[in-house]
Formats: sequence, C-alpha cells, structure tokens
Amino acid sequence: MINTCLFPVAGYGSRFLPATKSIPKEMLPILTKPLIQYAVEEAMKAGCTAMAMVTSKYKKAIEDHFDTHTDIEQSIAGSSKEVLLEGIGRVIKSCTFTYTRQLEMKGLGHAILTGEPLVGNAPFAVLLPDDLCSNAGDTVLQQMTALHVRYPSHCIVAVEEIPPEETHKYGVVAVEPLVSESALFVVTEMVEKPEPQDAPSNLAIIGRYILTPEIFAILRETKPGKGGEIQITDALKQLAQQGKVLAYRFKGRRFDCGSVDGFVEATNFFYTQGKQNEI
Ligand code: UTP
Repeated sequence: MINTCLFPVAGYGSRFLPATKSIPKEMLPILTKPLIQYAVEEAMKAGCTAMAMVTSKYKKAIEDHFDTHTDIEQSIAGSSKEVLLEGIGRVIKSCTFTYTRQLEMKGLGHAILTGEPLVGNAPFAVLLPDDLCSNAGDTVLQQMTALHVRYPSHCIVAVEEIPPEETHKYGVVAVEPLVSESALFVVTEMVEKPEPQDAPSNLAIIGRYILTPEIFAILRETKPGKGGEIQITDALKQLAQQGKVLAYRFKGRRFDCGSVDGFVEATNFFYTQGKQNEI
C-alpha cells in the first residue's frame, strides 16, 4: 500500500500571471474547487492518507485551504450552503497534512528531494495538481497503486501519447512491451523535453508517479539538466537503465491545467459533466 502522496507545488505558475502573483496556481478553481483539492481527493481515493506538500513562502493559501475556517463555518451553519464545505471537511478529517518549503526553485527533481523528510523510507506517490485527470472508473492514481501491488520494487510513471510537436513540453520515454501486459511497458530510455527529431517516442510522462525511496540518493547526485533545473526524468533514467521503471498508459482523460488552454478545456468539461449529472 502507498500511504504518502507528495505534491510538489512550489513552482511560480508564471503562465497564469498576473493571477498567480498572490494566488498559488494550485488554488485556481475548476468551477468551485481548487486544483489542489482535486489532487488530494485523487490521492485519497488511491488509499493515501498522508498528504505531503513541497510549498514555498508564496503558497500559504494552500495550508489555509486544508484547515478550518471557523468564521465561515459558523456563518453558514444550518443554511443550505453548509453542503458546500462537506467535501473539504471530509478531506481535512481523513488525512494528515505536512509541509516543507523549497527555498529555491531548482526544478521538479529538486522539489521531490526537498520532500524526502516528509516521505521517509517507503514507496510514495507524486501527484502534480496541474495535470487534472478524470476517469469514469478508477482514478489514474488508483490504477497505478493497483499496479504497485504487483510491481512493488519498480517506479511507475503515467504516460500518454502526444502529438510530435509537443515533445518539448514533457519527459519522453522509449519502451519495450512487458509480457502479458497491454498498457504497461518497461522504460528503456528517458529524455527531458526533447525536440521532435530527438524524441525516443510519442509517449510523454504526465504528473503521476510512484517512486521507490532509492530515488532520493540518485536525486542528491543529479546535476542540473534541461533548463538548468534538477530533473526527475534524469534521476529516473538511472533506474530505467537497471530495468526498474515502468510506464503505464492510463485510462482516462488528462487536462494540462498548467496552461490556459488546458485550464479552460477542463473548466468546460467539468461544467458540462456537472450539468449532465443534474439531468
Ligand atoms: P511547472 O514548470 O509545470 O510549473 O512544474 P511552474 O513552474 O509552476 O509553472 P510555469 O511554467 O511557471 O507556468 C511542474 C510542477 O513542479 C512543481 C510545480 O509547482 C508544478 O507542480 N515545481 C517545479 C516545484 O515544486 N519546484 C520547482 O522548482 C519546479
């Protein structure tokens, strides 16, 4: 079982400026729920109860969201609005939240390494709230934790097919089939944000990972890569060379809410879905 989910949420979210000058990107809502709450709820559904967040001094609103707000709670008690806080109330009651701050934005790999004291020495999930996933059945992280039960000593990354012109936005993997598995592959090569002509395939890593704690020792030695940042892809590449990384083509739909287009698409999708559920 995976108990801890790590949320690296220290990034500046500069694509959403000026909105993200004082509001963390993860607090931007799809309809009425902030991205970070969708992310925590997905982790909960996958069986995680320890929510570990790598934040920064600009992200205090995230901590406040997962705390009580007595004034509002008292003012809507007994009214029809009480139901609006039920979901977040359940999350707060069911999970523990720990926070640590990344002092310099040195990349996703560095953010994950910063989270080590919150994770300890057990396999853990990593979920990037920017990637909002929706599936009628099991959530993407649920699908991955089920695979972890069968492959407990492997790291697992969620992948999806992308158009060639988008490879420069993602970590891209080369894979070999895994006997008797249709959606699970052995990763043989990983390249961070390649140009289309250098991409080993059209399979891109999205923001869902299951990592084994051996990643931390590797991250400590990983030098800055693409963009001068410490990349999780570079660290995972070392484990891939030992056959220890699996790529999972997940079921469901992903929205890149780190981009304005993806955010609007997700908003329309969830709005339409909500309307359909009302019928
Ligand atoms: P992104 O590069 O997509 O997010 O990082 P960003 O930097 O916040 O966004 P833009 O590009 O400026 O608009 C992917 C994830 O890694 C986290 C981000 O918070 C996001 O969840 N991250 C990235 C960190 O926590 N620390 C870092 O140093 C870099």
